[in-house]
Amino acid sequence: MSDMHSDVSHILFDKEAIAARMAELGAQISSDYADEPPLLVGVLKGAIMVMADLAREITLPVEMDWMAVSSYGSGTKSSGVVRILKDLGEDITDRHVLIVEDIIDSGLTLSWLRENLLTRGAKSVEICTLLRKPEAAKVEIDVRYVGFDIDPEFVIGYGLDYAERYRNLPYIGVLKESVYS
Ligand code: IMP
Ligand code: MG
Repeated sequence: MSDMHSDVSHILFDKEAIAARMAELGAQISSDYADEPPLLVGVLKGAIMVMADLAREITLPVEMDWMAVSSYGSGTKSSGVVRILKDLGEDITDRHVLIVEDIIDSGLTLSWLRENLLTRGAKSVEICTLLRKPEAAKVEIDVRYVGFDIDPEFVIGYGLDYAERYRNLPYIGVLKESVYS
């Protein structure tokens, strides 16, 4: 009953698949930013696992910082109105910033965040997300690095939660309907 694996209906990406993709993205980022290492900005809490694994696949001396944001809105849909719960500790003036995110659904949170960081004087603001849902394609948001494109299902694990749980699953899976209905 308290075994979280039994709440998973099926696995989308296992440990090995995630590690292989992180290695590819890390190599790509290392080559793209070879001239000037970026400041990685992880979006708490979902991006903790991606940040930890991706950063170790990057061969450049990157810096890391964190933000926590919450989108106002009812239920599970984000509204696009964003509140900063925890702000950066670093000055990003003239820095290349790479936002590290767990998943892009509507894209509203990230388009707000990118604009916000640009107005602070960042030299560039790019986005790396582990997962992207089809909705994101509808918003004018250019995402440079995408781990996997997925169907519009609710996924958990590897940082992603349902009601704050399942972040520690070592894979990405789909939650059983019986858990939330
Ligand atoms: P949006 O792109 O503004 O709609 O918001 C994306 C945020 O919603 C992500 O950072 C997650 O916190 C959350 N989210 C969206 N889809 C999922 C999912 O399938 N599982 C877990 N969290 C999700
Ligand atoms: Mg998130």
